Amino acid sequence: MDHLINQRVKDIEISGIRKFFNMVAGTKDMISLTIGQPDFPTPLHVKEAAKQAIDDNFTSYTHNAGDIRLREAAASFVKTKYNLTYNPESEVIVTSGASEAIDIAFRTILDEGSEVILPGPVYPGYEPIIKLCGAVPVHADISKNKFRFTAELIEEHISEKTRCIVLPYPSNPTGVSLTLEELEQIAALVKGKDIFILADEIYSELIYDQTHHSIAYLLREQTVVINGLSKSHSMTGWRIGLLFAPANLAKHILKVHQYNVTCAASVSQMAALEALTAGIDDAVPMRQEYAKRRDYVYDRLVKMNMDVVKPDGAFYFFIKIPDDSMTSFEFALTLVEKAGVAVVPGSAFSSYGEGYFRISFAYSMETLKEGLNRIEKYLTAKV
Ligand SMILES: Cc1ncc(COP(=O)(O)O)c(C=O)c1O
Repeated sequence: MDHLINQRVKDIEISGIRKFFNMVAGTKDMISLTIGQPDFPTPLHVKEAAKQAIDDNFTSYTHNAGDIRLREAAASFVKTKYNLTYNPESEVIVTSGASEAIDIAFRTILDEGSEVILPGPVYPGYEPIIKLCGAVPVHADISKNKFRFTAELIEEHISEKTRCIVLPYPSNPTGVSLTLEELEQIAALVKGKDIFILADEIYSELIYDQTHHSIAYLLREQTVVINGLSKSHSMTGWRIGLLFAPANLAKHILKVHQYNVTCAASVSQMAALEALTAGIDDAVPMRQEYAKRRDYVYDRLVKMNMDVVKPDGAFYFFIKIPDDSMTSFEFALTLVEKAGVAVVPGSAFSSYGEGYFRISFAYSMETLKEGLNRIEKYLTAKV
């Protein structure tokens, strides 16, 4: 029956991150530094709000765009944090995770043959959706630019078919973010062109030595902002994402969302409401802990002579493989077999990630220490 399967679906593959994680899952005495999800529990008051929602029988469909109280809280959250102005009635959509927000945004704006510019290496959640739309991903190689996705690089890839530019910052897998000046240059380049920006700002609350600026503040009418609770409030499993777009665009995105999921899960929405109101600063203590881990891991990697850029945000290091005779997949496999540490091969983040590996520091200090000890031991023994 394989010939009956949609060709575009056949052509896409399972994410390389999951593939590697699944492959090594179950291996004995393994330190895994693979998964990009917070290791903190969801804040207690948020869990209590969800329990209350169940007791209150808040278990039916909500408005397609999400409960209005949550949309108001989301609009107020991005106003307070990033000075963005969105009308909760018509410009905010609550989605099933940022993943669904990415899907419905692309499906709304892309036509067959549209080109989408994105950095490479990049989070693997965009390319398959772009391809499912019959559109074409166009990567700008940021690996030779200290992973900075600049206006200059973007401009080199703009063509008459460019419909959208993906700006994921702080970035998964590199941790690099964009400064206000860089955003201003990108906004100046794109302003007035028939091009949308898809700004994936899911890590906006996890930024360490600088302030996060949303490009929507500079280019509201052409921007779709993707955010959510997964990373900021340690709520990956609750599946709540947030999409902000100007009303004339949001009304079309809402149709795709409606026929896709009807609405985000109602109980999760009440947890999210609590998170974005009473828990508006819940990310702060987590951010402080991540910052400590980042500094620790960075020091260790530098001492190992690793070629690495210190991440501005998120919880990843994207590191050059010291032995360039191996592909990133071979290197990651060797680390599993010889050192007992699982990392993600850079090739999981497009071909531009070849030659690198990603480690996540969303793990306890103890786990990080042991993982790094093992990597160091393996590399020292090899020399
Ligand atoms: C850059 C980026 N965007 C989106 C997502 C998906 O987020 P969610 O779990 O809310 O769907 C992730 C998850 O790792 C991510 O790293």
